Parts: sequence; C-alpha cells; structure tokens
Amino acid sequence: MAAQARHPISLRVSVTHRCQLSCQYCMPREGMVPLRPREILSFEEIQSFVASLGQQFDLEKVRVTGGEPLLRRDVDTLIAMLSSLGIPDIAITTNGQLLARWAAVLKRAGLARVNVSLDSLNPQTFSRLTGGGSLDMTKSGIKTALRQGLKPVKLNMVVMRGVNDSEVADVLSFALDRGCEMRFLELMPIGVARAGFGKLYVSSGEVRRALEGPFTLEALVSAPGATSKNYRVRTASGKEGVVGFISPHSSPFCKDCNRLRLTADGYLMGCLAHDDGVDIRPFLSMDNARAQEELKRAVESVFPGKRNGSAFENRQPMAAVGG
Ligand code: GTP
Ligand code: 5AD
Ligand code: SF4
Repeated sequence: MAAQARHPISLRVSVTHRCQLSCQYCMPREGMVPLRPREILSFEEIQSFVASLGQQFDLEKVRVTGGEPLLRRDVDTLIAMLSSLGIPDIAITTNGQLLARWAAVLKRAGLARVNVSLDSLNPQTFSRLTGGGSLDMTKSGIKTALRQGLKPVKLNMVVMRGVNDSEVADVLSFALDRGCEMRFLELMPIGVARAGFGKLYVSSGEVRRALEGPFTLEALVSAPGATSKNYRVRTASGKEGVVGFISPHSSPFCKDCNRLRLTADGYLMGCLAHDDGVDIRPFLSMDNARAQEELKRAVESVFPGKRNGSAFENRQPMAAVGG
C-alpha cells in the first residue's frame, strides 16, 4: 500500500556533492566523483521544482545542504529565489568554514537560520576529524552568523567513541555561552561510516547521562517528525538553553518523518537510509497538469521508502545523499 505523504513536508535540497573537507564519517578518502556541470540542477530548475511541490503540498521548510552548500557559486541567489516563493522556513546546513564570508549576504537574501557542524573544540582533533578543516574558521562563521541575526544557530556534533566523546560537556558549554542550540548526533552507518561503526558509535542515552552531572536537563515536547529530542538545559551558574539528541540508531524517528530530499543531480529521495530515488528532471519539461500528476506520484512513491527502524541500506556517501 502506498504511504501517504505526511504534512507538512520538509524538503532538503542538496546543491553540490563537493566539499572542501573530508569528515571521517562522511567523505570517502578518494573524494566524490564530480558531477558534470550538465548533471547538476540549475537554480531555475530547483526553484521550479520547489514551486510545484509547494502548489500541491504544505511545504513548511526548505533546507539547503550538500556536500558543502556554500561552495556552490552564488548560493545566495538560490536563497533569494526560494525566499520569493514565500516558504516559511529557509535554512542551510554547513560546515561553517566559509560562513563568516557568507552570513550577511545569505541573511539579506532571506535565509532564516543555519545549522553548523562542530565536532570538536580541540584544533588538532577538529582538523584530523574533518580532514584539514580549521576550527577557527568554523568558530568565526558561528560568531558572524549570530551577529547577523541568523536565529537560531544550531550546532551539530556527531559523537564518536575515543574521538570526541570526552568533549561533549565542553561543546555544550560553548553553545550555551553563545546562545546557540546544541544537538548531539548518533553516528549513522551510512557510506564510509559503515566501517568501524561498532567501535565508534555512542548512543544518545550515554551522552545524556554524561551531561546530567554538570547540567540539569528537562525534556521538552518535540514537533512531529523532528530529528531531535530536545531538552531545556541549565548550568549550576544559571545559564540556560536548549540541547537536542538526534538518535537515528537508538530511537529512529522514521515513523513521523516528513522529509524529502532532492539531490544535486535531480533525484527525489524519501529516505537517507535507502538509495532509490526518482529522477525529477523530466517533470520540468512537462505541461503543468502532467508535471503535477507525475510529481504527486513520485512523492507518494518515495515516502514508503522510510525504513521504519530497520537497517540502513544506503552505501552512498552522505555528501551524495545530501546530509
Ligand atoms: P532542524 O530543522 O533545524 O531541526 O534541522 P535538521 O535536524 O532536520 O537538519 P540538520 O541538517 O541539522 O540535520 C541534523 C542531522 O539529522 C544530520 O545528521 C542529518 O543527516 C540527520 N537527519 C536529517 N534528516 C534525517 C532523516 O530523515 N533520517 C535520519 N536518520 N537522519 C536524518
Ligand atoms: N552519521 C551522523 N551524522 C552524519 N553527518 C554526516 N555524515 C554522518 C553520519 N555518518 C552529519 C554532519 C552534519 C549533517 C548534515 O550530517 O555532521 O551535521
Ligand atoms: Fe563535508 Fe559535511 Fe561531509 Fe564533513 S559532513 S565532509 S563538512 S559534507
């Protein structure tokens, strides 16, 4: 039986496979096979697809991802084009390396908020884990985003045993000191992260217990389909904020998932965990009525791809699926 598309829908649009980093849980050592320019959806094609989706479904959120989305030339133009469609929530997920340079331009283009990966506060660990990334550049990106009023700035940390698990309290304090929302992510066995997963995986429960000494945590109600289970967090000195745990492994959130993904080369995918998708490019040259019909069929066909808690089957790198 075909599953019904859940409403409202949240769309993640990947604008490039490329990344200047190679995080150990994401990027294959040899990098990504580059897409040929004609394989990559243009901004006009993305805008047209998003507009069609918005005509038929309650499209609440569009998140621009990659690879590293800030490597796509003139990405602010896409943000402005999406913004002109009146989508309530336009966000971006970035590694933060180029954010200091882009934050003001993106804000002006209509970007509401930003999620930034921050896996360590130790410059050496950060560099090793990201394959040469600069901690200072990501920190400076976070600072600029806050100054520009992108709100909230959420920080994502993938916790890995023996790599950065000793830093969770420090990273949470860093977030609280700056008014950022902190999220701890469980490692997912996708692509390169399949190797060594058993050794590296740390459950959200374990992270939460480690935080319950230095911090007080009080559960908040999560929105349906949210990736993250959120808590209000307080320090002994009275600092407050929000911390979330994203637990795809120990507590899958597939049941209410309302996310669709559009890959940089134009495939609509329903789920991170499966690598089947529908090529949307043919829809773009159809007349409106037919395109709408095909789009509806495509959306309904990818929604049952949700994994309902069973094993991840995706062998593609995250940078290809679009975080
Ligand atoms: P908010 O709108 O700010 O809540 O963003 P988000 O959590 O949806 O986006 P973000 O890009 O920050 O993603 C955080 C983590 O959740 C990343 O590791 C994503 O890959 C993961 N994630 C997002 N969507 C899914 C999903 O459908 N399934 C699984 N298993 N993980 C997901
Ligand atoms: N497991 C968990 N999170 C991952 N990300 C990338 N690969 C993985 C993985 N294997 C995260 C990044 C970023 C987001 C887009 O996806 O850290 O926060
Ligand atoms: Fe690049 Fe993000 Fe993948 Fe790290 S997680 S290699 S920053 S795409």
